[in-house]
Amino acid sequence: MEPELATKIENADLPAELKTALTDLAQSVDVLAPQLPAGPSRRIRYFLGQLIAEVTDATVDTHWWESTCDFIVKTAQDRGASGQAAVAAVRKLQPILHQQLGPYDQVTLREITADTVFRICLLSDTLTEPKKYFVAPNAISLAQAHFNKYAWFRAIYAGKAPVGFMMIVDDPDKPEYFLWRLMIAEPFHGRGYGRQAIQCLVEYVKTRPNATELLVSCGQGEGSPEEFYVKQGFVSTGKIEDGELVLRMSLV
Ligand SMILES: CC(C)(COP(=O)(O)OP(=O)(O)OC[C@H]1O[C@@H](n2cnc3c(N)ncnc32)[C@H](O)[C@@H]1OP(=O)(O)O)[C@@H](O)C(=O)NCCC(=O)NCCS
Repeated sequence: MEPELATKIENADLPAELKTALTDLAQSVDVLAPQLPAGPSRRIRYFLGQLIAEVTDATVDTHWWESTCDFIVKTAQDRGASGQAAVAAVRKLQPILHQQLGPYDQVTLREITADTVFRICLLSDTLTEPKKYFVAPNAISLAQAHFNKYAWFRAIYAGKAPVGFMMIVDDPDKPEYFLWRLMIAEPFHGRGYGRQAIQCLVEYVKTRPNATELLVSCGQGEGSPEEFYVKQGFVSTGKIEDGELVLRMSLV
């Protein structure tokens, strides 16, 4: 382990069990990283450094550790038997971190910054089949936003943790606003973050000129978010556009 990381863990005011679990993870990453291609090897070390900073420094205000754990597990699982120690170390660490740093229950929509954009894009990599086919990767959404003057996009945060991405067509000349993209990273599914993000969005859209309804469209079939939208108050219009079912929510 890099001496600087070892010192951070040693000097931090943390429970002994957490220090041991962090050290085990750092040591398993030391074994894993040299087996990886240069890019992932650098990335896993950088993410580990971020994770240790999040745990040991209360002033760090963006927490990626759950996404980092997901990244380490997926990377380690790809290495088969030689990744098993890293997977086990993450599994041991996760519940301790949840207890130490969580819960992340307050959802907010925040601007994406130069510091966060890279990892906001990587949140898309957490989605697995079949859910990942229902939304474009965040990097593509941000590229499309660059060419659409009405695109309004935000990172979805739960507490200090960026957990997802949302983008709408925010055209003040039209009464209907369109939810263009929404995703919550898979490690965070089922915690109510998607529901809270829709509530934040509805509050925002209600402040926009002429807003009378919020539209969304989605693919159907296994993994479809249709039922999620219905639970949030969207109603099917019965219309299919570009192969997707259009739903609407009245804002008045
Ligand atoms: C759809 C998505 C945003 C939901 O986010 P989430 O944070 O997991 O959802 P929540 O935990 O807030 O769930 C709220 C409710 O919807 C339900 N729900 C969530 N996803 C669902 C799905 N795919 N199918 C059916 N119900 C779903 C939950 O069970 C929960 O029900 P409850 O209120 O009765 O307990 C997330 O699954 C996702 O990012 N999916 C992949 C991308 C995608 O489909 N985006 C939409 C593109 S149009």
